[in-house]
Amino acid sequence: MTFEEYLEQAFSNMRDNKLTEAMKYALLGGKHFRPALIFAVTDGFNIEREEAYPAALALEMVHSYSLIHDDLPCMDNDDLRRGKPTVHKAFGEDIAVLAGDALLTHAFNVISEADYDDHTKVRMIQELSNLAGLGGMVHGQYLDMFYTGKDINEAILDEIEDYKTGGLFECALVFGMLLGNDEENLAFYASMALKIGRVFQLQDDLFEITKTEEELGKNASDVDNDKASALSVYTKEELEERIANLFKEMFEQLDYAKFNTNELRKIIENMRDR
Ligand code: IPE
Ligand code: IPE
Ligand code: MG
Repeated sequence: MTFEEYLEQAFSNMRDNKLTEAMKYALLGGKHFRPALIFAVTDGFNIEREEAYPAALALEMVHSYSLIHDDLPCMDNDDLRRGKPTVHKAFGEDIAVLAGDALLTHAFNVISEADYDDHTKVRMIQELSNLAGLGGMVHGQYLDMFYTGKDINEAILDEIEDYKTGGLFECALVFGMLLGNDEENLAFYASMALKIGRVFQLQDDLFEITKTEEELGKNASDVDNDKASALSVYTKEELEERIANLFKEMFEQLDYAKFNTNELRKIIENMRDR
């Protein structure tokens, strides 16, 4: 079964209504980059893909929820994502809020019911609840909001990115680590994830001025919203140089992994070429 088929199947024993339709719309629409990061690590440990599916589903649910809420009128107020109307535009704000709530809570249900040993499940719940929440994404979204319209420097930008974007990336690599039983090397996964997160978010900010909304499939609203983005700290050239340096560091760091890094290297190369 492909991961996409597995995602579809996750809805097969849920009620069929507007709420689950909105959840599915959000969950199936993305690039599934965080699942790909989990699989890159588990492939490197020779673990069957299917074994990583529940972890990947849970993380993608949390990611999908974060985007639904991020697009809401009270947040970034965006109408377009992945080339389609945002969830609140397609289903209404009330359903969008609930679809986000349900994706977030159901993610923990998915982990609790997975066929993993109890230690792995508890550690996954611990990491996800921290990295998606106050130790990660939600705190980052708060910082993003707090610094809107304010002057920021490099250190503040790094902090916003590390929490807002790095949080879920760290969760992806840490899930791979837990499935690969490599907890003693947690520092490797955390540091690699933060670099991937920084590059990803810096590129996301850069693309707002180098790509069209059509190419992006989403609104380039950060500058209009007076958001603290990389473009408020760096010139385009500085930003490109910073991104190139981070890629160099990531490729060097791959040598220190305790798993076969072919897949992870491919993902990083694809990011470089996107
Ligand atoms: C978008 O993430 C949010 C950011 C952290 C920049 P993705 O680009 O992974 O979103 P989808 O799920 O593929 O649309
Ligand atoms: C969203 O960040 C990242 C989340 C944690 C939800 P952005 O607002 O910069 O990402 P896009 O441009 O909406 O995808
Ligand atoms: Mg946004």
